[in-house]
Amino acid sequence: MERKKFIQQAGAGVIAAMLPIAAKAGTCFDDSDFGGEGAPDDEAYWKKIARKYYHLPGDYINLENGYYGLMAKPVEEAFLNHVKRANAEGPKFARKTFPALSADIRKQLAAFLQVSDEEILITRNATEALNIAIQGYPFKPGDEVLINQLDYFSMVESFRMLEKRGRIAVKTFDMPLLPADEDAIVDEYRKAISEKTRVILLTHVSNINGLIIPVARIAAMAKQKGIDCITDSAHALGQIPFSLPELGSDFVGMNLHKWIGNPLGAGVLYVRKERIREMSMLFGDVNSAEDSISKLGHFGTTPFPVIMTIPDSLAFHKQMDVEKISKRLHYLKSTWIQVLKDIPAVEIVSPADQTCAIASFRIRDKKSSDVADYLFREHQILTVGRALGTQGCVRVTPAVFTSGKEVQKFIEAVKKYVG
Ligand SMILES: Cc1ncc(COP(=O)(O)O)c(C=O)c1O
Repeated sequence: MERKKFIQQAGAGVIAAMLPIAAKAGTCFDDSDFGGEGAPDDEAYWKKIARKYYHLPGDYINLENGYYGLMAKPVEEAFLNHVKRANAEGPKFARKTFPALSADIRKQLAAFLQVSDEEILITRNATEALNIAIQGYPFKPGDEVLINQLDYFSMVESFRMLEKRGRIAVKTFDMPLLPADEDAIVDEYRKAISEKTRVILLTHVSNINGLIIPVARIAAMAKQKGIDCITDSAHALGQIPFSLPELGSDFVGMNLHKWIGNPLGAGVLYVRKERIREMSMLFGDVNSAEDSISKLGHFGTTPFPVIMTIPDSLAFHKQMDVEKISKRLHYLKSTWIQVLKDIPAVEIVSPADQTCAIASFRIRDKKSSDVADYLFREHQILTVGRALGTQGCVRVTPAVFTSGKEVQKFIEAVKKYVG
């Protein structure tokens, strides 16, 4: 009962009212911890949040938060309770309780995303969500899909697979790594569009160099030309503020385990209601209505506890406030770019003002994977080498629990490396 109340209240956004119940269930967070400014450079504020609400690894500095996000402690605790409940109640829970619970959770998630619950599906990750959109899209012979080198490789591979099967042609262009501004990004897409372009893959926040693209502007331009955008917001949801209606993209895939802090194994697909009918199914389904999003979600048994935790992770994320989060992440990123950009051997491959947490760099004449290995081996700083051109790049991703001190240690480690 207590758990159910907790979920319902979190969904209604009544976070303060939730606290006593949550406290009893052992999943509390104290809203006074989140009061005050929480300014991007307020180390004391962010240190308190980090220490109280996250399990911080003592043996390395985690600057690889682009892989997946850590659950906050209250979310982890809620998750473990959900695991125990699903396990204790067994199939009775799955048969009798979970269907209504999951419908309610879908409603809460839809409200968070500011769309109708008839337009979203909870998937297992962003790859699944986007593959349902990519492979279900009603392509016609001769259609072209536009991608660029900063798009996520799995989505590129899905389009390449359709190309191999003769269903589409893929056209790629090179996005400048340091576009001057949003206008320049929109222009690159405009120039690359052809008469045959049917779909543009928009990677909202690049996993390679963190570039944030103006999805709403590109989608509006595309729409005028009768072109659809399939938008990959895997790294956008929770890292930067936006709403699905303002994006104006009819197909959006996201996940909840990067920047929302849900346990691993939850993604979301959004398809605008009017577009569902024309989509074909990736997973067999002949019984759902043609205009029901359920027809796209016939993917078998789902991870109940992961889904049950969604209201908890959304509640904690809301309490943290996406505006505050994104400003803090932007500040941490800017701190290191500001210093390293002046070192001649270092090339920053991310525009500081058009990225949030994620940004990347490379070092002249060095293999980026070697640089990442050095940082971990010698300084216990975890980053990751990413493919980009011939030299690759080192991706650096702080999180809300990253301290200014840790960023300074990273700066010093790179300085040492270049000598
Ligand atoms: C831009 C982008 N899209 C999609 C994905 C895939 O997300 P998931 O692991 O949830 O399938 C990732 C994962 O890193 C990503 O960075």
